[in-house]
Amino acid sequence: MNNLRFARQFLLHPKQLGTLVQSGRMLANRMADEVEGCVQVVELGAGTGPVTREILRRLPESASLTCFEINREFCRCLESIDDPRLRVVNDDAAKCERYVDRADCVVSGLPLTLFDGRAREAILAIARRSGRFIQLQYTTALSRDIRRHFSDVRLKFVPLNFPPAFLYICTCSCKVHVL
Ligand SMILES: C[S@@+](CC[C@H](N)C(=O)[O-])C[C@H]1O[C@@H](n2cnc3c(N)ncnc32)[C@H](O)[C@@H]1O
Repeated sequence: MNNLRFARQFLLHPKQLGTLVQSGRMLANRMADEVEGCVQVVELGAGTGPVTREILRRLPESASLTCFEINREFCRCLESIDDPRLRVVNDDAAKCERYVDRADCVVSGLPLTLFDGRAREAILAIARRSGRFIQLQYTTALSRDIRRHFSDVRLKFVPLNFPPAFLYICTCSCKVHVL
């Protein structure tokens, strides 16, 4: 059902979604595993929420997860997740500092390679301040931009997804947690 909804929205907004289908279970799990130990998490471009649900499964009771999603229909899916730790914001991820002042991890499904250079840099600068950044991509084209912002970058390949995906696992020694 969510895959159909996703495909329909892709036909309407291809550049905003960047892919025809939502992340599969294995990819969502691999992304969510990376938030282990975090308590204030921000998710950018949460879509219909496959990664959101897995992150919530791993967070402690006292944690918070704030999701930014620009597509109103996807926000309705996210709002149907019944969890007091979750806050859904229907706005541009680049404005996340207006809503959240701290984060110890930023998880992103944003199609950053389709963003213009300025918007991409704005997102990477926000993510860097959290100190920990997990970014989903379908190519490695973003490597150079990401390495300029983070002192440690690991690339994980997740082949069992359509399309096969890469995860950038990034940490920055200059973390301040304040967005
Ligand atoms: C590749 S999809 C990933 C969706 C979901 N995280 C997943 O893994 O299935 C990218 C998502 O980013 C959202 N998006 C694109 N630009 C955005 C922006 N500037 N601010 C917030 N969300 C945005 C799209 O609407 C879409 O839901």
